[in-house]
Order: sequence, then structure tokens, then C-alpha cells
Amino acid sequence: MTNPFRFPEEQAQLPEPAILIIFGVTGDLARRKLMPALYNLARENLLPARFAVVGFARSDWNDGKLRAEMRRAVEAFSRTPLLGPVWEEFAQHLYYFRSHYDDAEGFRRLDECLQELDARYNIPGNRLHYVATPPVVFQQIIRHIGLVGLNRPRTPGSWVRVVIEKPFGTDLASARQLNASVGQVFSEDQVFRIDHYLGKETVQNLLAFRFANSIYEPLWNQKYIDHVQITVAESVGIETRAGFYDQTGALRDMVQNHMMQLLSLMAMEPPVALEANAVRDEKVKVLRAIKRLAPADVSKAVVRGQYGPGAIHGQPVPGYRQEPGVHPNSTTETYVAMKLEIDNWRWAGVPFYLRTGKRLPKKISEIAVYFRTPPQLLFERGEFDHAFTTNVLSIQIQPNEGISLTFNAKVPGSEMRIRPVVMDFRYGSSFGLSTPEAYERLLLDAWQGDATLFIRADEVEESWRLLTPVLETWQRMPPPDFPNYPAGTWGPSDADVLLALDGRRWRRL
Ligand code: BG6
Repeated sequence: MTNPFRFPEEQAQLPEPAILIIFGVTGDLARRKLMPALYNLARENLLPARFAVVGFARSDWNDGKLRAEMRRAVEAFSRTPLLGPVWEEFAQHLYYFRSHYDDAEGFRRLDECLQELDARYNIPGNRLHYVATPPVVFQQIIRHIGLVGLNRPRTPGSWVRVVIEKPFGTDLASARQLNASVGQVFSEDQVFRIDHYLGKETVQNLLAFRFANSIYEPLWNQKYIDHVQITVAESVGIETRAGFYDQTGALRDMVQNHMMQLLSLMAMEPPVALEANAVRDEKVKVLRAIKRLAPADVSKAVVRGQYGPGAIHGQPVPGYRQEPGVHPNSTTETYVAMKLEIDNWRWAGVPFYLRTGKRLPKKISEIAVYFRTPPQLLFERGEFDHAFTTNVLSIQIQPNEGISLTFNAKVPGSEMRIRPVVMDFRYGSSFGLSTPEAYERLLLDAWQGDATLFIRADEVEESWRLLTPVLETWQRMPPPDFPNYPAGTWGPSDADVLLALDGRRWRRL
């Protein structure tokens, strides 16, 4: 079992020999994330000597074409430059397999191909299936894997696992159905549902920060914390993904998965062990404790937005409805802000405010914990009123990863003036390492069978249970005011009102 507190470099054991099968290898995810991650693992000698990667897709490619395309992808997207000899060695292990996702005969041939590769590399039958296709074909692929027996270990002692990409369902009913289909073919301990936020160093550091230190945990509750703000802001628009995004929107794309994960890790109780099910048990409890949003609460607790034309870093950019491939009257939300309450002993009365959006002024993700004001203020606030702040602990997930604590200090001089100052920890300056990409960590964990950083079936369903009523309410009430924020601004004014009604405001980032 690997330890989520360690960098992969420090993990002593290499994964076992295995074949990784990437369904959808011609797609964006394989080029941008999976292949660069595999290349970096190879570069750091973290892959076993005996392995093969089989890319499965419908296009008319062959091994040579796959290797050439993936080389270009690694050159473009890897966090480290491509080193010729490392690439050449790695590329020898890449194979292309062409078939349709609903072709049983194709899957039978795949099985034969994998057996040949087992023999060539002396691999004992271990298989890591990676479903990296658009979600419409997830079920077909899983069903065919089962149909030809590629879900079962081929030899005693070997293993088969499956990694499933997001989005896992589009609402509660579809997530349940997908879980049921997957459950007919795989047992839950074979299934690795991915959320790449869990692979980010800073997100894992949240566990270390909370449970490897004794000074914060006593404060981590309603007695000392006033509220929490979680922001995942992006300056990019929808890039080339209109087809996907216009059907999806920000709530499904970001809130249901990434933001719910951040919230769960921030709010969960200490797990009994640093082990997959113990950690996931605690995360599920948080999700179950979040107060359900009845349809009547949705408009009070949730704000949606869509960007109009504006400017990012001084450059004009089109509005969402003008993006190529987007319906000109689209009502898809590109921004969500919401207020959630966790009804348990630790968090009763502490609002969690979440916001995420495309085309905001900058890319920044952070969790900000606002502590309560001191019980009695001894200092005149007067002139410095605006500067006085409650203590804020900011956990910056990206970029400029780190943690900072804002507190009030005396301004030097004869008067007693108070001003906020910041105590800062930055990954870059403290560790001086280029941190691994989320996918490196997650691929390695799935290969080694550690599901701590993957989503369990009940977790994904709880998250959809909470958010499906929002989607249903929105569907009944189309937004009257879209677009309601210009690109390059911090979202619709209603999001400010959401906090203002509670006497609070969003942190300036
Ligand atoms: C993906 C979403 O899951 O996360 C994208 O589909 C989004 O829309 C991306 O841009 C953000 O990830 P990161 O790692 O850049 O914060």
C-alpha cells in the first residue's frame, strides 16, 4: 500500500509488471495527460521493466503512428523536456489496437493481443484498463471487457483493475446506473474512479496539514471557524470543448467532483487509518451531512452565471454564446457559487461558500478558512478599520502552491495601530522540487492497487444526490439574465449578494 503523504520518488516499491490498456488513446486526455504522465514515470524509473501500454481506439492508426503522435504529445505537454533515449526506450512498449467499442470480436482479438504481449514481456496477466473515452461509450467498453472475460485475472495471483474517467454520470440516476453496470463486471475493489484533483500535491497535503500537525486540529470546528470559502477559478474559456461543455456546465464539470472532494477533505473527521476505505468512509460521512437543498432553497443558496464578451489580461475574448460550437441561446452555466451547510457537531452553523467559473480574471484554486473574531476587541479599529481582518488560513492549491496565515500585527511606531500580515509557506521555496503531475501519482496508485485517492461508488452517488435537485430546479427555471458576467470579471453580482446577505464577502484573490 502506498502512502499518500509521500512523493512517488520516495516510494520504494516499483509497480508489478502489467499491461495498461488505454481506451480512447487518440483523444485529448491521452495526449495531454496520460502519455506525458507515463513518460515522466518512465523517466523517473517508476515503471517496472516489464510492461506494455496498448492504446485502443477506432481510428486507422498503427504502432508507428501511435508512437509518433505520442512523442509529439509528450513534447508539447510533459512537465519535463523529452529526453531522446528515455523516449525511445519507453516508446518500444507502446502498441496500437484498432477496434470499435461495441465489437465483441474486437475485444476477443484484444485478449489475444494482450496474451501475446504477456508472453513477450513475461507479464503474469496483470491488466490495468483505463477508460479515457467520452462517457457515451463507457458502458459499452465495460460490458465488452466483461463479455470476453478481460475483467477476471487470467492466472492465479494476477490482478485486473479499471480506471474510469470523469464525468461519472450526469445526475444521480445515471451515476447509479453506471455504478450498477460497472458492478456487474467488476467488484468495487477493482474500480478506480478518477478525480484528478486528488492527485494534486496540495490536495494531498491537506491531509498532512490537518492530521500530521497538532496545532490546527483543535481549532478545526464551529467554535473557532466562522466560515470557509473554496474557490476554483479559471481564466480559460471552454477551449475546444464546446460539444462536451454545452451539455455539461460548471456544476457537473467542477462542483460535483473537484469541489466536493476539496470540501470533503477539508471537513472530514480523522480517518481511523490512512487507508482507502477508512479515508473514503469519512469523506462520505461529510457528503451525507450536508444539508439537502430543497427546490425552494436553490435560488437562495446557489447562483449560476454565464460569461459574456469581455477581456482577459487585456485581450478581448468572446462571450460563451459566441464560442464556436455553443448554441447561440445556450443556458449552460459557466459559473456557480453556492452556500452549503454541514449538519454535524463539528460544522453546525459554519457556512461553506463555493465558487467556480470559466473566464474569471485568473487561474487560482484555494481553500480559505476564516476564523472567528476575538471575543473582545481591545484595539481601536478607527482609521485602520478596513485593514483589520480576522485570521484567515489560505491553502493555495494552484498555482503558487502553499499555505499562508493572515494575522494582525502592530505597525511599528508610537501608536497602537494594527495591520494584517502574512506568514507564508510555499512549496517551491521549501522543497525546491518540480512536483509531479496529478496523473503521474494517480496512474501509479491505480497500478499499485491503492484506491485512497480514488472515488468510491457511494461517494459519487452522495455527491449527485446533493446536486441533482439543483440541476432539476435549474432545468425548470431557465436563467432570465444570461450572460450575467463579462469575461475577465469575478462572476455575477448575485454571487456577491449571496455572501453580503450573511454579512461577508468573497476573498479578493
Ligand atoms: C477538468 C474540467 O476536470 O478540470 C475542466 O473538465 C477544467 O473544465 C479542469 O478546466 C481544471 O483542472 P486543473 O487541474 O487545470 O485545475
